[in-house]
Amino acid sequence: MGTGSDMAKLRLGDNEYDLPIRVGTEGNRAIDIAKLFAMTGHIALDDGFANTGSIMSTICYIDGEQGILRYRGYPVEEVAEQCEFTEAAYLLIFGELPNGEQLEAFRGNIRRHTLLHEGMKAIFAGFPPYAHPMAILSAVVGALAIYEKEFGDPGNPQQRLLAMHRMLAKMPTIAAFSYKQSVGQPFVYPQNDLTYCQNFLNMMFAVPSEKYKIDPDFAEALNLLLILHADHGQNCSTSTVRMVGSSNVNLFSSISAGIYALWGTLHGGANEACINMLENIAADGRNLGKYIDKAKDPDDPFRLVGFGHRIYKNYDPRATMCKAVCNRLVKRFAGQDPLFDLAQELEEVALSDPYFIERKLYPNVDFYSGIIYRIMGIPKDMFTVLFCLGRLPGWIAHWREMHLSPDKRIHRPRQLYTGHTKRSVVPLIKR
Ligand code: CMC
Repeated sequence: MGTGSDMAKLRLGDNEYDLPIRVGTEGNRAIDIAKLFAMTGHIALDDGFANTGSIMSTICYIDGEQGILRYRGYPVEEVAEQCEFTEAAYLLIFGELPNGEQLEAFRGNIRRHTLLHEGMKAIFAGFPPYAHPMAILSAVVGALAIYEKEFGDPGNPQQRLLAMHRMLAKMPTIAAFSYKQSVGQPFVYPQNDLTYCQNFLNMMFAVPSEKYKIDPDFAEALNLLLILHADHGQNCSTSTVRMVGSSNVNLFSSISAGIYALWGTLHGGANEACINMLENIAADGRNLGKYIDKAKDPDDPFRLVGFGHRIYKNYDPRATMCKAVCNRLVKRFAGQDPLFDLAQELEEVALSDPYFIERKLYPNVDFYSGIIYRIMGIPKDMFTVLFCLGRLPGWIAHWREMHLSPDKRIHRPRQLYTGHTKRSVVPLIKR
């Protein structure tokens, strides 16, 4: 990254200002407006941060026009096909692929901390049976700030490292316990001789009364899915983790906030919402035209869930891989899956419709991921929890990158005030 000699010129009335141009390693360019207010008395206004780079980062590169996603320079496809999830997590967090020794040490550090404090079981027990697992997940991760409070100082490198290991170790346990709580089954404790994904599946589906055999195809599909979700630049939840963490609060509280941000249907909640949509369309006689028309109608709030993306104006590379996994699993387990067939038909209709073509709306990661989870027997309200499991290394990597940056400042956007000008309070009796 450099400034080069390039400057952008800004003319305001009779005055002209020079604004530095920053150039990223892939040649992408940004106008640095950090001093704009000090220089000109103007702020930059960019509703929804559609064109605002909030930080400089070395973690993930996205080219939305070409449909490219790379983790620390490696194409996501290669990482997903060749790495185990903890390996990808190490890459994202520490910047390089680990060698065998580093990976074993990293896995050991995670394994050592998979258990929760027994007192935390009472927290789960306090939630009503209808509690959404995402709400439980965020609340219990937030409670780690109490149980793991000796790792709460993000300015202390040792505490920071231990907090990261503990967060990675305990997240699958909390996620699986959230599910067990919601179905009224006993918690299944982590088994540290299993891989990260096998362990999660075992904690989800094993019961004390009978043996559970982990399906290697499911473990492999989960590994791939988690890696595909592991990082994605300054998306809503990652920005939230950085925003909250920028106040120097502990990692657990920052991640808890990120989980809530991910839950919304415009973000990670889209995987659950997408299956709901497909089921509704199926129950409504598979009338694709009706739903395409609804999605196109500006007066109808309905949107084609799993379609469109702020950054991708091309096929989301993660969706391509999810679709391939769907194909593999559907062939092996059923030969045919009515929702997968419907999703493919819907995709075909949408991609040949001028509305979607003109707006460059393509399937995103959430369009096919829910179908995979469904085939694996994962209930719908756990889909976004699995997105969290996948996104965790990205959140941690960004949190760490922020704390290691010599330029770290609290995140504090400005606003353009458009409310009343000064007025005086009228006493209650006269209002
Ligand atoms: N169905 C119908 N129309 C759409 C859709 C859609 N899924 N997505 C965007 N549009 C239209 C939108 O109405 C607008 O039309 P117009 O120019 O006529 O006003 C145009 O396309 C541009 O959309 P936008 O709302 O400005 O796009 P955005 O960048 O603000 O929003 C998005 C991105 C992902 C929130 C949006 O595409 C959406 O709501 N998609 C459905 C929800 C979804 O699948 N979310 C998952 C996102 S990927 C994973 C993740 O982030 O978690």
